[in-house]
Amino acid sequence: NSRIILDVDTGIDDALAIILAVKSRKLDMLGITTVCGNVSLQQATENTCKVLELIDAADVPVIAGAASPLIRKSHYEHRVHGQDGLGGALPEPPVSMQAQEGFAPDFIIEQVMKYPGEVTLIMTAPLTNLALALMKCPELPRYLKEVIFMGGVVRGHGNVTPTAEYNTFADPEAARMVLHAGIDQLTQVGLDVTRQTLLNDAAIAKLTDSTLRSYVAKSTEIYINRYEQMNGVRACALHDPLAVGVALNPELVGRRKYYVDVETASRLCDGQMVCDIQNRLGQEPNLLVCETVDADRFLEMFIGVLNS
Ligand code: BDR
Ligand code: CA
Repeated sequence: NSRIILDVDTGIDDALAIILAVKSRKLDMLGITTVCGNVSLQQATENTCKVLELIDAADVPVIAGAASPLIRKSHYEHRVHGQDGLGGALPEPPVSMQAQEGFAPDFIIEQVMKYPGEVTLIMTAPLTNLALALMKCPELPRYLKEVIFMGGVVRGHGNVTPTAEYNTFADPEAARMVLHAGIDQLTQVGLDVTRQTLLNDAAIAKLTDSTLRSYVAKSTEIYINRYEQMNGVRACALHDPLAVGVALNPELVGRRKYYVDVETASRLCDGQMVCDIQNRLGQEPNLLVCETVDADRFLEMFIGVLNS
């Protein structure tokens, strides 16, 4: 089993990513780190604990991280994820599980140094926690096995501005720092591929566990409504779960390495990922971009693991 740290801003699809990662039983979950993003840090942490309790996994350590992006104001997405970030699917009373002591960037450094060359980071949120870890420990990339992050879009439009995907938009300076840190195995799971992995009502109906099925149905309702409003399809994209899917089965996607940067100084295009597809800048490629995905196979895996 690969050793994993999952970094989340829980979030409807982050919750599904957590459930997929834990229930797969194929990942050694060192911990789940939380960050400000879709919702506040406190809400993301509480949601993470609630989701872990829902699936009887309160033994997975949760460690809170950055309460804001590196230099920008936080940009919450309540229109997409609901007031509580989980589409109101897990109401009060609050859970008993709490985050551990500690700070996510420090936890990441500690664990990577404890298991050199063995830790994969799966990031499904703005990249603030990893950027802070890199600022404290610039040699970290040498000790990492792999980083897989959900974020950005290479060929296509954004989902928060015309050009930017949410995670790179919410903390573009952090995304730039990660891209230029010299991480050898750095994979992007962007909207290019996640927009192809859609969950609809028919797929949800295939979930056999009634607690999980009603949770998924309830939490994705607002998410599906929003996706339908913006894209004309009654479904929602499994953005964050696909990043976990790539860790579970690398063959789900086709990857190619390019030089990629993120815009941080534009009135219209802040947070846009810019991929030098034709290598016009002559720079060393720094990012494995997922260009294709076997969406049917991923969906089958997703439903299969949730039913296991
Ligand atoms: C990403 O933004 C968030 O709203 C989702 O949780 C996902 O990580 C998709 O653009
Ligand atoms: Ca997320």
